[in-house]
Amino acid sequence: MEYALHQHGRAAIEFLADLRILSDRLEQLADARTAATRPANAELPAGIDALHATLTPLLEDVPEFRLLRLCRDWTLEQHGSLAMAAFEEIRDEVTAELDRLQQQPHAVHYADHPPRPAYWEGYEFHKSAGGWDGHDYMGFVHGELIHRKMVNPNFAGMIYAVRKSVAAAAPVTDPLRILEIGCCSGQYTQGIAEVFPDARISACDLSARQLEQAQRYANEHGLNWELFQAGGEATGQPDDHFDLVTSYAVFHELPTAAAAEVLRECLRVTRPGGYTVIGDVKAYHAFDAYDRWKNDYWNQVHGGDPYWREYASTSLADLALAAGFAEASWEGLGPHQYPFVLIARKAGNGHTT
Ligand SMILES: C[S@@+](CC[C@H](N)C(=O)[O-])C[C@H]1O[C@@H](n2cnc3c(N)ncnc32)[C@H](O)[C@@H]1O
Repeated sequence: MEYALHQHGRAAIEFLADLRILSDRLEQLADARTAATRPANAELPAGIDALHATLTPLLEDVPEFRLLRLCRDWTLEQHGSLAMAAFEEIRDEVTAELDRLQQQPHAVHYADHPPRPAYWEGYEFHKSAGGWDGHDYMGFVHGELIHRKMVNPNFAGMIYAVRKSVAAAAPVTDPLRILEIGCCSGQYTQGIAEVFPDARISACDLSARQLEQAQRYANEHGLNWELFQAGGEATGQPDDHFDLVTSYAVFHELPTAAAAEVLRECLRVTRPGGYTVIGDVKAYHAFDAYDRWKNDYWNQVHGGDPYWREYASTSLADLALAAGFAEASWEGLGPHQYPFVLIARKAGNGHTT
């Protein structure tokens, strides 16, 4: 959808995106400053608490590191409210089109009693003001203004390519039916649709506001996705129904007990012989000790992601096998082992009907 930000909102968003990119350079400076004084990787402890005890005081003593932390904390604290303020400047110009795209030709199926899991209480994930539903147009505010305009430039546009690579890793040919868990505003759904253009895509999320943005994208691009509000723990879909059940960047937001429950639900709705494929951030065991500490420091401790460490330290393959999948592997893609992908096969050889 075409729209133009006003001067103040545009400048604020560009400033935040630039600040993230430029302040990231401080990381290398902090690494270089401590290279001679910190223990070599082979001498660092493996456990995360011991790593913090060794490295956190050392790095927090370095001015470049403290400045980097200030910039990252500040951008995370500001991005939600700056995006909302930018939206208010254009509200009267965009809402009629946003409302039309949200309804026509297809609309989100809302839950009568939307689930709100206990593990959501007390957190605003990624520190976005109000969380996933904290604004009447939060799907546009998050998916478009935060994710596409502020976060994406920081990753040189790679966030969409990474999502597509997860869909492409699914060992299925010509799937008829695909279910995505936690589609948010539809970024991974786009990747799935590009890799499997002939499949019927259904996708759920807990957040009504994010689903509405995914619906706008689908309607605008002539994509007939079935979008419905549900948790991955109980999708309400039939048994043995999907050739592929998949998600991206959802499991790091789940405590282990919820992840296990979602995998049991994935197993139930995957057809015999079909696959569940879950992409998410890199597992801790795939990092060397110093990078593991950095990943934990910036995401678990300072990133607004309360279950990041739990996810990154728990084998999704073991969870999938415990859920009842016949085979499961959990490995990183490509030379950087990013993202990590669970590929789990359900026993049997059935075909979708
Ligand atoms: C980081 S976003 C990622 C989304 C998206 N798949 C992407 O590629 O950008 C996480 C999404 O998972 C959703 N979510 C979290 N827990 C969930 C659950 N138990 N069931 C369904 N969706 C969930 C959130 O509402 C949010 O929209």
